Amino acid sequence: RKEVGRISVGSQGFNDLIGGGIETQSITEVFGEFGSGKSQISHELAVTVQLPIEQGGLEGQCVFIDTENTFRPERIIQIADGFELDHEEVLSNIHIARAFNSSHQILMAESINELIQQGNNIKLVIVDSLMAHFRAEYVGRESLAVRQQKLNQHLHALQQIANTYNVAVFITNQVQAKPDAFFGSPTKAIGGHVLGHASTYRIWLKKGLAGKRIARLVDSPHLPEGECVFKITSDGIVD
Ligand code: GTP
Repeated sequence: RKEVGRISVGSQGFNDLIGGGIETQSITEVFGEFGSGKSQISHELAVTVQLPIEQGGLEGQCVFIDTENTFRPERIIQIADGFELDHEEVLSNIHIARAFNSSHQILMAESINELIQQGNNIKLVIVDSLMAHFRAEYVGRESLAVRQQKLNQHLHALQQIANTYNVAVFITNQVQAKPDAFFGSPTKAIGGHVLGHASTYRIWLKKGLAGKRIARLVDSPHLPEGECVFKITSDGIVD
């Protein structure tokens, strides 16, 4: 088994909360309300994965599966400039995959295998957002079982990529309010035996005062529950 790598989320406090950054060979889920910062963290990670290891990166490329048209190249440029990186090069290391529906999303995730086998040094896969298409397409109680089956297939493919190629997977999940957050998790529903030995991290994002954000680590198998405060600036995520 290859050594687990870590990717910085930009804030020291946030990194400490999750054991040093998001892990390869794992799926990390962030959930929270609209505007809580899920897409902002996705953009940050798409840049930081490219940094040298000493700076919290893995010198790798990223696949960004965009399901709601939230990817913003100009935001990548700002964050890359904040790290004094060549932003054109940073953009060229992000493989954007726009998923038009859930089947397309599933296929795109599976096709990452080929992308890596062709020699692309992918170290991070982002799915922003995981659930949007599934929620829109599988409406009503009678379709819940099929939805969960398709989601399991998708998550299984993502976990297989994470394990096989030592890649980090980062998924976002929009939830409405606190109670749903704990009952509506796609990753929690599939349980330990489906994901095998790999751990899944879940981070709940909340809006705080004065533009601050709070990240709370929940039901993590290895790390203590806890919270940290971070900020979103033009340079990206900071303490
Ligand atoms: P999700 O709905 O959770 O995906 O939210 P998001 O990450 O898309 O959030 P949104 O784009 O609403 O941004 C969240 C916050 O990040 C904003 O309220 C701003 O405070 C901050 N933010 C977003 N974009 C920028 C930017 O370009 N510059 C700066 N300085 N802050 C930004």
